[in-house]
Amino acid sequence: MLAQVDSGSVDLAFADPPFNLGKEYTSKINDALADHEYVEWCESWLTEMIRVLKPGGTLMHWNIPKWNLLLGSFLAKRLTFRNWISVDIKYSLPIGGRLYPSHYSLLYFVKGKKPAIFHPDRLPIACCRHCGGELKDYGGYKDKMNPLGVNLSDVWTDIPPVRHSKYKKREANALSLKLMDRIISMCTDESSLVLDPFGGSGTTFVAAELLGRRWIGSELECTSIINRFEELESDREHLEQIQEGKNTLFTAADLKRRAQAGRPISKSYRIARDRSKDCDCGGRG
Ligand SMILES: C[S@@+](CC[C@H](N)C(=O)[O-])C[C@H]1O[C@@H](n2cnc3c(N)ncnc32)[C@H](O)[C@@H]1O
Repeated sequence: MLAQVDSGSVDLAFADPPFNLGKEYTSKINDALADHEYVEWCESWLTEMIRVLKPGGTLMHWNIPKWNLLLGSFLAKRLTFRNWISVDIKYSLPIGGRLYPSHYSLLYFVKGKKPAIFHPDRLPIACCRHCGGELKDYGGYKDKMNPLGVNLSDVWTDIPPVRHSKYKKREANALSLKLMDRIISMCTDESSLVLDPFGGSGTTFVAAELLGRRWIGSELECTSIINRFEELESDREHLEQIQEGKNTLFTAADLKRRAQAGRPISKSYRIARDRSKDCDCGGRG
């Protein structure tokens, strides 16, 4: 598929390949290659992904640190490194004699010196899930906080593993819609072209479709993608919820918790959006 894509045509090339951990895939691929074979295989399609990127286009590669350490150095010789984003998700059980693997690595590179498109989301202040209180004390800086939220860093702790049956599109491997919304929103504009060669359950394609981007991709076993596109409404609702929770200093849910706890948030904060309609605190937050 990649060989048929025009050079310099893609705005965002994203890949979430099999990790060579000996997993069983519906597509029956061999997920237990020798280390050097796996790395060579990844390098072959990464080379194609680089070719099809526009100048200023973004390449993002999702993998475990073991592979991204090697593939990152391959990419750094061909593209400009931006970030190693650590996404805090536990992906296996604790292993004796080793540290508990608790982050995926998301490599972020651009073709050329700087990205053509870069508009990272802002995040709400992290609050207690019970009382809505801020987890960090912003002290005298509350009035200096951007009303649209906190700057996005290279450590993402708010991406849920896909477990909830309502949103789980496939038994294994599906990425969170929130992750793909963040990546696509950051690195593309409406009608940009998004490419993902490892479709899986179609999370990238669904996010791109719902965000009004064009997309192209491949997958060896497409049944779950086809089924998912036939019921796009549940993903649409989910995406709306995700978008409600970003680019704002406080989420409606946190304002509601604070109001219920009888402790409205400090008036020093500048709130961008009237969220009184989103929750039942009557605008007191
Ligand atoms: C980790 S999963 C991707 C999951 C996806 N990001 C999602 O959110 O659902 C990797 C996928 O790559 C597919 N795959 C493996 N080799 C492939 C190939 N050569 N061409 C296309 N797809 C391939 C597998 O069938 C598997 O579904």
